[in-house]
Amino acid sequence: MDERVIGRSGQRASVVGLGTWQLGADWGDVDDKEARSVLEAAAESGVTFFDTADVYGDGRSESAIAAFLGGRPDLHVLVATKMGRRVEQIPENYVLDNFRAWNDRSRRNLGVDRLDLVQLHCPPTPVYSSDEVFDALDTMVAEERIAAYGVSVETCAEALTAIARPNVASVQIILNPFRMKPLYEVLPAARQAGVGIIARVPLASGLLSGKYTKDTVFAADDHRTYNRQGEAFDQGETFSGVDYATGVEAAAEFAALAPEGYTPAQLALRWIAEQPGVTTVIPGARNPEQARANAAAAKLPPLPAEAFIAIRELYQRRIKDQVEQRW
Ligand SMILES: NC(=O)c1ccc[n+]([C@@H]2O[C@H](COP(=O)([O-])OP(=O)(O)OC[C@H]3O[C@@H](n4cnc5c(N)ncnc54)[C@H](OP(=O)(O)O)[C@@H]3O)[C@@H](O)[C@H]2O)c1
Repeated sequence: MDERVIGRSGQRASVVGLGTWQLGADWGDVDDKEARSVLEAAAESGVTFFDTADVYGDGRSESAIAAFLGGRPDLHVLVATKMGRRVEQIPENYVLDNFRAWNDRSRRNLGVDRLDLVQLHCPPTPVYSSDEVFDALDTMVAEERIAAYGVSVETCAEALTAIARPNVASVQIILNPFRMKPLYEVLPAARQAGVGIIARVPLASGLLSGKYTKDTVFAADDHRTYNRQGEAFDQGETFSGVDYATGVEAAAEFAALAPEGYTPAQLALRWIAEQPGVTTVIPGARNPEQARANAAAAKLPPLPAEAFIAIRELYQRRIKDQVEQRW
């Protein structure tokens, strides 16, 4: 699969990566065997970038990646993790001593001396304006605990503040056919500054596969049941912040736009990957079939221009008013 450079870090990531929140928790049950098959299917389909976090299953996702990669020295996969959400979400917690402790834990979980890429995990907004925070991250690089750092953000404004920092390698942000504001507000600035863009929640939590109906029931321990109104964390992380009923109807219209040879999920992934400035798109997968189908999106022919026009029209008509004010 084609790789792209992650901005200033010089590191490389496959155009389609793998999100591994599913291998931790919050998406119903994915057992250890299934988790391993997902990682294997992705890697064997050419994926060279895994996104994880210390908080996914409280380390379970990181450990699953370590167990898999430990047995496969033939693979060269860049692992990006995140830190900062295992404590109360207040700016006072974002200090060097805590960073070192979080880093020690992730290095143990991932079984490495130095982490490839560490992202601040949607910290409180003032964190992005703190010189001390970014000085501490520079110290972590100097101490060779991390090779590079980035941020995972909720809003376009946070992304722009982070991009202005000289050593931020990457910004992870929600970008998909139901979340377009980053296209015009963030991607041009990231390109100019040489900052990589990691596009998350690319399928709007699965909505863009077009397979859910208004009657679909998700497991009780799945955030698509318990976080629809933002009860547990930012509402934008669940169905991309789109109200479920609207999302299902709009997803049916989206599915009808898939060119021959594309599934609706592949249309979404390909639409994202073709946006100038995107480094990698990181769909989450709950089974190996999804991981393989998502990786295959990278090898499909380029989308026709009409697809971009129709997707934008759908977004403006059905979705824009629900999401643009907030994120
Ligand atoms: N704050 C943050 O930094 C943050 C927040 C959210 C996510 N992330 C990262 O971004 C990654 C991706 O986002 P996400 O997992 O939240 O959402 P997503 O990728 O938009 O949706 C994932 C879900 O879509 C469905 N799916 C995946 N591939 C499919 C396919 N080929 N066909 C049909 N359905 C498919 C699966 O659900 P079903 O099988 O249940 O239908 C899967 O669990 C995460 O894994 C995580 O690494 C980071």
